[in-house]
Amino acid sequence: MNVKMRNAAAILVLAAMACPLGLLRAQAPAVESRSVWDGVYTEDQAKRGEPIYRKECAACHGDMLTGGESAPPLTGGAFLANWNGLTMGDLFDRIRKTMPQSVPGRLTRQQDADILAFVLRVNKFPVGKTELYRQSEMLREIRFEATKPAPKK
Ligand code: HEC
Repeated sequence: MNVKMRNAAAILVLAAMACPLGLLRAQAPAVESRSVWDGVYTEDQAKRGEPIYRKECAACHGDMLTGGESAPPLTGGAFLANWNGLTMGDLFDRIRKTMPQSVPGRLTRQQDADILAFVLRVNKFPVGKTELYRQSEMLREIRFEATKPAPKK
Protein backbone atom coordinates (compact mmCIF):
# COMPACT_ATOMS: atom_id res chain seq x y z
CA MET A 1 0.00 0.00 0.00
CA ASN A 2 1.45 3.39 -0.91
CA VAL A 3 1.10 6.50 1.20
CA LYS A 4 -1.76 7.91 -0.84
CA MET A 5 -3.80 4.74 -0.52
CA ARG A 6 -3.07 4.52 3.19
CA ASN A 7 -4.29 8.08 3.66
CA ALA A 8 -7.40 7.34 1.68
CA ALA A 9 -8.04 4.24 3.78
CA ALA A 10 -7.51 6.22 6.98
CA ILE A 11 -9.98 8.85 5.82
CA LEU A 12 -12.53 6.15 5.04
CA VAL A 13 -12.09 4.61 8.48
CA LEU A 14 -12.40 8.01 10.16
CA ALA A 15 -15.45 8.83 8.10
CA ALA A 16 -17.07 5.53 9.03
CA MET A 17 -16.35 6.14 12.71
CA ALA A 18 -17.56 9.69 12.57
CA CYS A 19 -20.85 8.78 10.97
CA PRO A 20 -23.17 7.79 13.81
CA LEU A 21 -25.40 5.59 11.72
CA GLY A 22 -22.48 3.91 10.01
CA LEU A 23 -23.95 4.82 6.64
CA LEU A 24 -20.52 5.30 5.14
CA ARG A 25 -19.32 1.91 6.26
CA ALA A 26 -20.81 0.36 3.14
CA GLN A 27 -18.15 2.17 1.11
CA ALA A 28 -15.20 0.80 3.07
CA PRO A 29 -13.53 -2.13 1.29
CA ALA A 30 -15.10 -5.38 2.45
CA VAL A 31 -12.77 -7.89 4.05
CA GLU A 32 -12.91 -11.12 2.09
CA SER A 33 -14.04 -13.95 4.28
CA ARG A 34 -15.29 -17.16 2.77
CA SER A 35 -16.95 -20.29 3.96
CA VAL A 36 -18.11 -23.56 2.41
CA TRP A 37 -21.39 -21.76 1.68
CA ASP A 38 -19.76 -19.49 -0.89
CA GLY A 39 -19.34 -22.02 -3.71
CA VAL A 40 -15.76 -23.14 -3.20
CA TYR A 41 -15.66 -26.13 -5.60
CA THR A 42 -17.06 -26.97 -9.04
CA GLU A 43 -19.40 -29.65 -10.29
CA ASP A 44 -16.64 -31.02 -12.56
CA GLN A 45 -14.28 -31.31 -9.64
CA ALA A 46 -16.84 -33.21 -7.57
CA LYS A 47 -17.37 -35.51 -10.57
CA ARG A 48 -13.64 -36.19 -10.71
CA GLY A 49 -13.56 -36.86 -7.00
CA GLU A 50 -16.39 -39.36 -6.95
CA PRO A 51 -14.59 -42.34 -8.59
CA ILE A 52 -11.48 -41.68 -6.49
CA TYR A 53 -13.62 -41.71 -3.36
CA ARG A 54 -15.30 -44.95 -4.47
CA LYS A 55 -11.93 -46.59 -5.07
CA GLU A 56 -9.98 -45.27 -2.09
CA CYS A 57 -12.43 -44.46 0.69
CA ALA A 58 -15.80 -46.15 0.18
CA ALA A 59 -14.70 -49.56 1.47
CA CYS A 60 -14.47 -48.07 4.96
CA HIS A 61 -16.60 -44.92 4.86
CA GLY A 62 -19.44 -46.42 2.82
CA ASP A 63 -20.83 -45.82 -0.67
CA MET A 64 -23.11 -43.10 0.65
CA LEU A 65 -20.46 -41.69 3.03
CA THR A 66 -22.55 -42.86 5.96
CA GLY A 67 -19.67 -44.69 7.61
CA GLY A 68 -18.85 -48.33 8.10
CA GLU A 69 -18.16 -50.76 10.90
CA SER A 70 -15.27 -48.77 12.30
CA ALA A 71 -14.97 -45.72 10.06
CA PRO A 72 -17.04 -42.63 10.89
CA PRO A 73 -19.49 -41.05 8.41
CA LEU A 74 -18.32 -38.20 6.16
CA THR A 75 -21.79 -36.71 5.96
CA GLY A 76 -24.60 -35.90 8.34
CA GLY A 77 -24.90 -34.25 11.73
CA ALA A 78 -21.97 -35.81 13.59
CA PHE A 79 -19.55 -35.16 10.73
CA LEU A 80 -20.70 -31.56 10.28
CA ALA A 81 -20.52 -30.95 14.03
CA ASN A 82 -16.97 -32.37 14.17
CA TRP A 83 -15.68 -29.88 11.64
CA ASN A 84 -17.91 -26.92 12.38
CA GLY A 85 -15.80 -23.84 13.12
CA LEU A 86 -12.63 -25.35 11.65
CA THR A 87 -11.41 -24.78 8.09
CA MET A 88 -11.16 -26.71 4.85
CA GLY A 89 -7.41 -26.67 5.47
CA ASP A 90 -7.87 -28.66 8.67
CA LEU A 91 -10.04 -31.22 6.92
CA PHE A 92 -7.63 -31.43 3.98
CA ASP A 93 -4.62 -31.94 6.27
CA ARG A 94 -6.50 -34.59 8.24
CA ILE A 95 -7.09 -36.53 5.02
CA ARG A 96 -3.56 -35.96 3.74
CA LYS A 97 -1.92 -37.11 6.95
CA THR A 98 -4.15 -40.02 7.95
CA MET A 99 -6.17 -41.28 4.95
CA PRO A 100 -6.61 -43.71 3.31
CA GLN A 101 -6.00 -45.31 6.67
CA SER A 102 -4.09 -48.26 5.23
CA VAL A 103 -1.58 -46.08 3.32
CA PRO A 104 -1.85 -42.43 4.45
CA GLY A 105 -0.53 -39.80 2.07
CA ARG A 106 -0.57 -42.07 -0.96
CA LEU A 107 -2.90 -39.80 -2.94
CA THR A 108 -1.83 -36.56 -4.61
CA ARG A 109 -2.97 -33.13 -3.39
CA GLN A 110 -5.13 -32.89 -6.49
CA GLN A 111 -6.83 -36.21 -5.74
CA ASP A 112 -7.47 -35.22 -2.13
CA ALA A 113 -8.92 -31.87 -3.20
CA ASP A 114 -11.17 -33.62 -5.73
CA ILE A 115 -12.40 -36.08 -3.10
CA LEU A 116 -13.12 -33.16 -0.79
CA ALA A 117 -15.15 -31.47 -3.53
CA PHE A 118 -17.19 -34.66 -3.83
CA VAL A 119 -17.64 -34.79 -0.04
CA LEU A 120 -18.85 -31.16 -0.09
CA ARG A 121 -21.36 -31.95 -2.80
CA VAL A 122 -22.75 -34.96 -0.94
CA ASN A 123 -23.14 -32.68 2.07
CA LYS A 124 -25.12 -30.30 -0.17
CA PHE A 125 -22.81 -27.32 0.03
CA PRO A 126 -23.32 -25.10 -3.04
CA VAL A 127 -21.15 -25.49 -6.14
CA GLY A 128 -19.26 -22.48 -7.48
CA LYS A 129 -17.12 -21.39 -10.40
CA THR A 130 -13.64 -22.11 -9.09
CA GLU A 131 -12.14 -25.37 -7.99
CA LEU A 132 -11.17 -26.15 -4.46
CA TYR A 133 -7.50 -25.33 -3.87
CA ARG A 134 -4.77 -27.93 -3.42
CA GLN A 135 -2.78 -25.84 -0.93
CA SER A 136 -3.48 -26.18 2.79
CA GLU A 137 -2.60 -22.52 3.42
CA MET A 138 -5.25 -21.35 0.98
CA LEU A 139 -7.78 -23.90 2.17
CA ARG A 140 -7.35 -22.53 5.68
CA GLU A 141 -9.03 -19.35 4.48
CA ILE A 142 -12.27 -21.23 3.86
CA ARG A 143 -14.28 -21.72 7.03
CA PHE A 144 -16.23 -24.92 7.53
CA GLU A 145 -19.67 -23.99 8.81
CA ALA A 146 -22.25 -26.67 9.45
CA THR A 147 -25.24 -24.40 8.88
CA LYS A 148 -25.87 -21.71 6.36
CA PRO A 149 -25.19 -18.28 7.82
CA ALA A 150 -28.05 -15.78 7.86
CA PRO A 151 -27.92 -13.47 4.83
CA LYS A 152 -25.79 -10.38 5.37
CA LYS A 153 -27.73 -7.19 5.88
C1 HEC B 1 -9.14 -48.83 5.86
C2 HEC B 1 -10.30 -48.04 6.18
C3 HEC B 1 -10.31 -46.56 5.75
C4 HEC B 1 -10.09 -46.03 4.50
C5 HEC B 1 -9.75 -46.78 3.22
C6 HEC B 1 -10.28 -44.61 4.63
N1 HEC B 1 -10.59 -44.28 5.92
FE1 HEC B 1 -10.98 -42.42 6.65
N2 HEC B 1 -11.17 -43.15 8.53
C7 HEC B 1 -11.08 -44.50 8.86
C8 HEC B 1 -11.20 -44.63 10.32
C9 HEC B 1 -11.18 -45.97 11.09
C10 HEC B 1 -11.36 -43.34 10.84
C11 HEC B 1 -11.49 -42.94 12.31
C12 HEC B 1 -10.22 -43.23 13.04
C13 HEC B 1 -9.11 -42.35 12.59
O1 HEC B 1 -9.28 -41.15 12.67
O2 HEC B 1 -8.08 -42.83 12.14
C14 HEC B 1 -11.34 -42.42 9.68
C15 HEC B 1 -11.49 -41.04 9.77
C16 HEC B 1 -11.59 -40.21 8.68
C17 HEC B 1 -11.89 -38.80 8.75
C18 HEC B 1 -12.19 -37.99 10.01
C19 HEC B 1 -13.68 -37.95 10.17
C20 HEC B 1 -14.12 -37.13 11.36
O3 HEC B 1 -15.18 -36.51 11.28
O4 HEC B 1 -13.39 -37.09 12.34
C21 HEC B 1 -11.90 -38.32 7.48
C22 HEC B 1 -12.19 -36.89 7.03
C23 HEC B 1 -11.60 -39.42 6.60
N3 HEC B 1 -11.42 -40.57 7.36
C24 HEC B 1 -11.51 -39.35 5.23
C25 HEC B 1 -11.13 -40.39 4.40
C26 HEC B 1 -10.92 -40.26 2.97
C27 HEC B 1 -11.15 -38.99 2.18
C28 HEC B 1 -10.53 -41.48 2.51
C29 HEC B 1 -10.12 -41.85 1.10
C30 HEC B 1 -9.00 -41.12 0.55
C31 HEC B 1 -10.50 -42.39 3.65
N4 HEC B 1 -10.87 -41.68 4.78
C32 HEC B 1 -10.16 -43.72 3.57
C33 HEC B 1 -10.92 -45.55 7.99
C34 HEC B 1 -10.62 -45.45 6.64
